[in-house]
Amino acid sequence: MQTIDTENFSAIVFFTGAGMSAESGVPTYRGKGGIWGSYSIDEYACQKAFERDPEKVLGFHEKRRRSVLDCEPHGGHRVIAGMPGVRVVTQNIDGMHQRAGSRDVIELHGSLWRLRCQKCGSRKEDYNESYESTRCDCGNWLRPDIIWFGDMLDAVVMNRASAVIASCDLFISVGTSGVVWPAAGFPDLAKQSGAYCIEINPEPSGASEYDRVIVGNAGEVLPELFSES
Ligand code: APR
Repeated sequence: MQTIDTENFSAIVFFTGAGMSAESGVPTYRGKGGIWGSYSIDEYACQKAFERDPEKVLGFHEKRRRSVLDCEPHGGHRVIAGMPGVRVVTQNIDGMHQRAGSRDVIELHGSLWRLRCQKCGSRKEDYNESYESTRCDCGNWLRPDIIWFGDMLDAVVMNRASAVIASCDLFISVGTSGVVWPAAGFPDLAKQSGAYCIEINPEPSGASEYDRVIVGNAGEVLPELFSES
């Protein structure tokens, strides 16, 4: 495989989706074995569902936390974490990049490891298998601090991600179907800003922005693509 010499670039962004964690054992959302094939979005992943039955929705997310804790970051996560100065913009909520050692991670869709109170606005990090508490000190329910269907993205997070992408010169998309907006617009933003754009996916999105499409799995392709020899 033709390798990439990171010395030729000054601002590198990895844009990742569920496929990035697939080889760690975390299921993707769409396609074979995808979460939305077995769980209804209307019942588990929207504000209305939470209002209807908070315990059911929290239980689903608790189950997801347990299954993510059973998984470990793979070689692809570690390659990204080992590259100094790179930025990660991820749609993933699983925290795998951080567990591999990445520090500069923008989480577009929030985190499975954080809860927030919609009444008083407080946020609480919680890395346990089971939630330490699902009630805020103010007495209200705490909800997972993630972007569900129908939720607005956090404008501060979105602006940070857009700024980072608009100023990168190498953009590498890994493991996203590219169907969920506004994140789906990032490859175009990178291209318009003059970045060299690469897609890594066993089933590429077909988006026209990419200069190079590598058909393969993140855990195999990333270590090869960035190997020094
Ligand atoms: N390596 C790289 N890519 C892979 C791998 C792998 N080993 N396995 C699967 N993929 C690819 C699939 O081909 C698919 O294109 O990962 C992609 C996963 O797509 P989705 O399940 O749609 O995940 P994602 O794009 O992250 O979804 C975006 O949708 O449900 C919401 O909020 C959720 O953040 C999520 C958003």
